[in-house]
Amino acid sequence: VTDAATPTTAVPPTLRDRIATVGQEHLLNFVDELTPEQLGAFVAQLETIDFERVPRLVEEYVNAKPTFDAAQHDITPPTAFAFDDPSWNRDRFYDRGAELISDGKVAAFTVAGGQGSRLGYDGPKGCFPGGAVTGKPLFAMLAEWVLWARKRFETDIPWYVMTSPLNHQTTIDFFDEHAHFGLPREDVVFFQQGAMPSFDMRTGRILLKSKGEIATNPDGHGGSLRALHTSGALADMRSRGVEHISYVQVDNPLARVIDPVFVGLHAGAEGSSAEMSTKVIAKIDPAEKVGVIADVDGKTGVIEYSDLPDDLAAKRSDNGDLFLKAGNTAIHMISVDFVERLNQGGSLGLPFHRAEKKVPCIDPDSGTPINPAEPNGVKLEMFVFDALPLTTGSIVYEVERVDDFAPIKNAEGTDSPASSKALQTERAARWLEARGVAVPRTADGSPDCTLEISPLTATCSEDLPGDAMPREITPGQSLAL
Ligand code: UD1
Repeated sequence: VTDAATPTTAVPPTLRDRIATVGQEHLLNFVDELTPEQLGAFVAQLETIDFERVPRLVEEYVNAKPTFDAAQHDITPPTAFAFDDPSWNRDRFYDRGAELISDGKVAAFTVAGGQGSRLGYDGPKGCFPGGAVTGKPLFAMLAEWVLWARKRFETDIPWYVMTSPLNHQTTIDFFDEHAHFGLPREDVVFFQQGAMPSFDMRTGRILLKSKGEIATNPDGHGGSLRALHTSGALADMRSRGVEHISYVQVDNPLARVIDPVFVGLHAGAEGSSAEMSTKVIAKIDPAEKVGVIADVDGKTGVIEYSDLPDDLAAKRSDNGDLFLKAGNTAIHMISVDFVERLNQGGSLGLPFHRAEKKVPCIDPDSGTPINPAEPNGVKLEMFVFDALPLTTGSIVYEVERVDDFAPIKNAEGTDSPASSKALQTERAARWLEARGVAVPRTADGSPDCTLEISPLTATCSEDLPGDAMPREITPGQSLAL
């Protein structure tokens, strides 16, 4: 936006007034020092800020720290369909989902606006090598699921990729370099998420990154629900006849980007309003750091692990499972109608979440650069799962962990390249063993090899083509199928 801004020598009076009315006039302290080009770009940036909302945001999220007190709420498990529960008819939902996909009513959607900062990777996270054996980039692994579904269901499936201003062009260039991973260019649609101003933690003043730019941060994956609308992506979906969006995060190479059973459950299961559904994995360790899906005062939503009291996290049902075991994989089905409804009236109605961060900035009085050693700023983000309580009925589909979930978030330990590799290998090992292939395992039971199976080869053990299967795997072997 700012690149195309018109040069100017003055801040428009209406903008000046809007800024002054909400007590943020420090933002204009250095405008006299800017060139017409710099000022034009700054004015364009300021025009994107919803200043009228700023005082409430500061009061609610900067001066105060909203807390969730579980004891004040009635918390119960959500309506769930578990993969190992024979009481529901999986085939029926597969057929329902397959029909919707074949009819071109389902689009793939990946949120890829975040920075790989926890991973220590400098670049869009989707470019990170995720394949256990091949080192294929995460984007390529997700693209293969879209390619598989297009072939399997003989239909064009558009793939929407949300970026942020920080990685938009790099992401597009990466797809160009890789010829869109074999997908038709017109069926891969990129759009950018919005940004929020970052605030001074002590004063509630918006931070200046430089004399002619405010400090901003991406508005969180919840911002996707607004950006889908404002970018025109939703209108593009409508024009293609798309009714449901299959939402996955870029960090999970095992995510089934298009999953017929999940589509069918979302669209047709009892208890589902077909607005927004969630894929979950059974939480086994009470301390595992995933949000849990729960019904809170009768409304389905996510309780983040940091908000879940230890005793409730550890509470067990009669069968020994955790009472709240629906661990959030961040894989959702969302209807186009629902996203449209959320955007009516201009404001999404999702709450913000605050994070205290070190934000490089300048002193608004002297203009001196500040490189903080301690968190000085508050960043506000929306989370997509906060839309769940706004549905009129939401269900969860519990899948087996190794089948769908091997995220890469951290450089080491849990949710790292190493743990993802182990899970990708374990999934492949189980599939091969189910077909009679001997997989070497170490004393602790883990595979003594590295394996990776592309969805283009198989999406489950029954799919594995006889001629693609090795007769045996030797200890230490690396094998990609
Ligand atoms: C998230 C969920 C957690 C869930 C876990 C599963 C939150 C707060 N928590 O954790 O409940 O159990 O995933 O893996 O989200 N992104 C954007 N734009 C943004 C911010 C993020 O596109 O402004 C994208 C990232 O590129 C990434 C995804 O959202 O694909 C996840 O973001 P991240 O902040 O890493 O969430 P987690 O803390 O890992």
